[in-house]
Amino acid sequence: MTIAISTLARELKEQGKDIVSFSAGEPDFDTPRRIKEAAIEAIEAGFTRYTAVAGIPELLDAVCRKLERDNGLSYEREMILTSNGAKQSLFNLTQALIDEGDEVIIPAPYWVTYPEQVKYAGGVPVIVETSEENGLKMTPEQLKAALTSRTKLLILTSPSNPTGAVYSREEIQAIGKILEGTDVFVASDEMYEKLVYDGTEFTATASVSDDLYRRTVTINGLSKSVAMTGWRFGYLACPNVELVKKMTSLQSQSTSNICSITQKAAIPALLGEVDDEIERMRQAFEARAHEAAELINAIDGLSVRRPQGAFYLFVNIQEVSSDSMQFCSDLLERYGVAVVPGIGFGAEGYFRFSFASDIVTIREGIRRIEKFVQELRA
Ligand SMILES: Cc1ncc(COP(=O)(O)O)c(C=O)c1O
Repeated sequence: MTIAISTLARELKEQGKDIVSFSAGEPDFDTPRRIKEAAIEAIEAGFTRYTAVAGIPELLDAVCRKLERDNGLSYEREMILTSNGAKQSLFNLTQALIDEGDEVIIPAPYWVTYPEQVKYAGGVPVIVETSEENGLKMTPEQLKAALTSRTKLLILTSPSNPTGAVYSREEIQAIGKILEGTDVFVASDEMYEKLVYDGTEFTATASVSDDLYRRTVTINGLSKSVAMTGWRFGYLACPNVELVKKMTSLQSQSTSNICSITQKAAIPALLGEVDDEIERMRQAFEARAHEAAELINAIDGLSVRRPQGAFYLFVNIQEVSSDSMQFCSDLLERYGVAVVPGIGFGAEGYFRFSFASDIVTIREGIRRIEKFVQELRA
């Protein structure tokens, strides 16, 4: 469904229509200079060959140092696997962990990839629907009700794509308590860690308790926070060395090591050498989040919470439409605005608006959305 919208947007653009798109899942900023330089140095030095599957030791050490510095977490090299984006990290995990019929708890709204990867591994996605009263976050009671003897994994995303919600330390602690005494693993997708707003504190799931540390596979990368989507760098950290070995073996027989040049380029980012630039991007996103949420909330019939993190607004359209796919395709055809229907994220009655665009385009897009909504209500 989400691909249908982007295909339609492309077709309309090719026909010469004026399309503004807010469907992107990537920053509109360029990769920092220091990262590019590290890549150029790697090429010039001839660092262009196969490496160890999990990554070069210098890179694994940089990941460990990042986890120690930012999250107070301690890992050894053999607990880390770097992959072609966090998407492959998650793929390695679902393939290595999930057997036919295993259940995986996924709070909705979710990132579209989770249920698909779970099904591909033969697992059963168990979708837990959240409510706005709870900030579109899963409660411990909901988790308890969803657990069965077949539950193998819980996928937690904070900050969330598509809602921008961030789980507090207390909320993660309460979720962890429910899991105590079970064999359930947690995949903690922390891709948007660095993009949090208005003083919101990010909490790494594995840092909350020893029990959570043992059962959590932390998934992270540089795509979103360092504007490196095309470089394909993600990683996972997991204290269960046997599981990491299995995943490394799977990657060894499928894609092998990630690009040697990307490995060298990732190191300065992991070591904090571009933190100033990350902060500049974060501030720009924060200012856009404020303005875009305010403009959308001023539209009669639409409402949105200001996101605590990531770069999306998850807009409630329930007053004007009960069919997000129809809403989004009409908005695109009539007003040339591309946004992603909530149904794709397992939540009808919403659309996702990415504010990874310049503010002038954002203002123009929201002006058009307002006209469309006025037309719907007329
Ligand atoms: C929540 C979340 N996790 C993981 C990813 C994958 O990122 P990548 O494979 O580029 O590292 C995305 C990308 O959209 C995402 O939104």
